[in-house]
Amino acid sequence: MQTPSILFVCLGNICRSPLADGALRHRVRQQGLGWTVDSAGTGGWHKGEPPDARAIAVARAHGVDIASLRARQVQAQDFDRFDLILAMDHDNLAGLTRLAPMGSPAELCLALDLVAGRQGQAVADPYYGDDAGFNATWADACAIADAVLARFGAAR
Ligand code: 4NP
Repeated sequence: MQTPSILFVCLGNICRSPLADGALRHRVRQQGLGWTVDSAGTGGWHKGEPPDARAIAVARAHGVDIASLRARQVQAQDFDRFDLILAMDHDNLAGLTRLAPMGSPAELCLALDLVAGRQGQAVADPYYGDDAGFNATWADACAIADAVLARFGAAR
């Protein structure tokens, strides 16, 4: 089997998807798996920007550096480049469903659908909240990263 390729998608690509991207990328690097992991936003307002400073800080507090990520908008070609596209909330999922080219082989679902007991749930948007929200996002990002590893048969 080809090495898995996973894309995380939120709205701005500066809070939730960079944290999920960072949590999984870190595990993939630690295990030497060589998977492709990336993130994007359904919106383009933050294109080219680094993650939100609060997202960078919570990841850094857990030993993960996401400061070099740069926001980008999801594009139709992503459906050819990635096996698994994980939406952080229902609006993102609806936007991705509209963008998906007909017959695209990429699997598309909510990121928390992969996590036992969390099916159908959204990762809450921490953008307008406080640091506690970013801690919760980081916890979700780690649960999602572990679930993706398990899904493709890697150790956690
Ligand atoms: P994200 O959070 O989708 O998790 O990156 C947001 C980032 C920016 C905005 C909203 C949510 N915004 O309205 O600019």
